[in-house]
Amino acid sequence: MSPEIILNKEEIDEVITEVANKLNNFYKDSDRIPVLIGVLKGALPFMMDLIKKLTFDLEMDFIQVTSYSGTSSTGVIHLKKDITTNIKDRDVIIVEDIVDTGLTLNYLKQYIQLNYSPRDIKICCFVDKKPLRKVQLEPDIVGVTMTQAKFLVGYGFDYNEIGRNIDYVFVPTKKQLEEWDRKLKNN
Ligand code: IMP
Ligand code: MG
Repeated sequence: MSPEIILNKEEIDEVITEVANKLNNFYKDSDRIPVLIGVLKGALPFMMDLIKKLTFDLEMDFIQVTSYSGTSSTGVIHLKKDITTNIKDRDVIIVEDIVDTGLTLNYLKQYIQLNYSPRDIKICCFVDKKPLRKVQLEPDIVGVTMTQAKFLVGYGFDYNEIGRNIDYVFVPTKKQLEEWDRKLKNN
């Protein structure tokens, strides 16, 4: 069985252009300099491609959290790396690869609000995976909405840290996951 391709390279590019257009429209007449906060590591390819299409002045920073193990969310969120930019009273855009249960972004939004008091926080995600949502969380800017709870790999999405470099998004086969498990055991 071959893997199900969810988004190929061209489709990813179209999605990024749409997301960038929305952000560009929103900030084009603004005097503010928003701070994009990318959520490591999954959002890295998305953030990199997105910023190249943004036409307003911006700053960027990164934050790192973990919650996933294998193919599902553990629900326990660990902050691994914090931002270093002073974002007090600034406009913040959190850039994330995917919203699944919503726990990660719910945590991040609260963490950033409570600790750094920005003026505004918007959430921009590449994929909004709706079915397994555990907390009410609506991202402000969404690339692709998924109505099925499929486990994705590629373009930032990983299986135990593998697959982030693949330049399209797909649903790995059981055989592929077993092959990665075998390789991981030997590393
Ligand atoms: P949430 O806290 O359940 O919303 O999960 C968010 C995090 O889980 C994302 O930032 C991803 O890193 C990871 N994640 C969710 N769905 C997938 C997937 O289909 N493939 C790989 N990682 C995923
Ligand atoms: Mg992530």
